[in-house]
Amino acid sequence: MATMNPSRMQPFQKGSNAATASMPTAGSAGPNGRQQEAQPILRQRSEETQPYGTLTRVPIGLDDDVRLASVEALNQILANTMVLRDLYKKHHWQVSGPTFIALHELFDKHFEQQVELVDDLAERVQILGGISVAMPHDVAERSTLERPPSGREEVPVQISRMLEAHEQILVQARQQARAAADRGDDGTNDLLVSQVVRTNEMQAWFLSQHLVDTPLVRAK
Ligand SMILES: [Fe+2]
Repeated sequence: MATMNPSRMQPFQKGSNAATASMPTAGSAGPNGRQQEAQPILRQRSEETQPYGTLTRVPIGLDDDVRLASVEALNQILANTMVLRDLYKKHHWQVSGPTFIALHELFDKHFEQQVELVDDLAERVQILGGISVAMPHDVAERSTLERPPSGREEVPVQISRMLEAHEQILVQARQQARAAADRGDDGTNDLLVSQVVRTNEMQAWFLSQHLVDTPLVRAK
């Protein structure tokens, strides 16, 4: 494996079986001695098979340094995309006011599209032999987006936050798409341009039009 960071191995903890009730269990020795075969082996732990920040060799014709650079770039964009995905769900739930139903449905549609981007970015990292960022506490550490409050905000603020997230992701995706093409990683370039950039540009358009202050009845 190629290594970016020193691996942090978890101490091995031998699994213990929770089947300790006083009555005979499937794990007890039986008359034919085969009851152990029916008992699930529970509460297992072991060392990671591949620490975060390392690469396995995969036969796709890209050098280690090329794949390493793409994995780092993709994980950064992935972390921000996961935060934007969750911003959409937060605002889908917390939106209010006369445009409730339109925005409630629009935010959920954009959420679903961001879910697809998350999956495609994460799987590209794995395709390249890396480990994709996955859990919320890891995402929070790696995201470069501004953290929103836990409470409800006004609609223009909700939309502003998501527009700023889109813009940051777009800037990163375009830069990293060009860098990926320059080092010969056409698959990463294609994912970033055809899916990440195009989807985020479209969603930013739909959102931004809700911040145009147009008269509803009488023209100015
Ligand atoms: Fe819903």
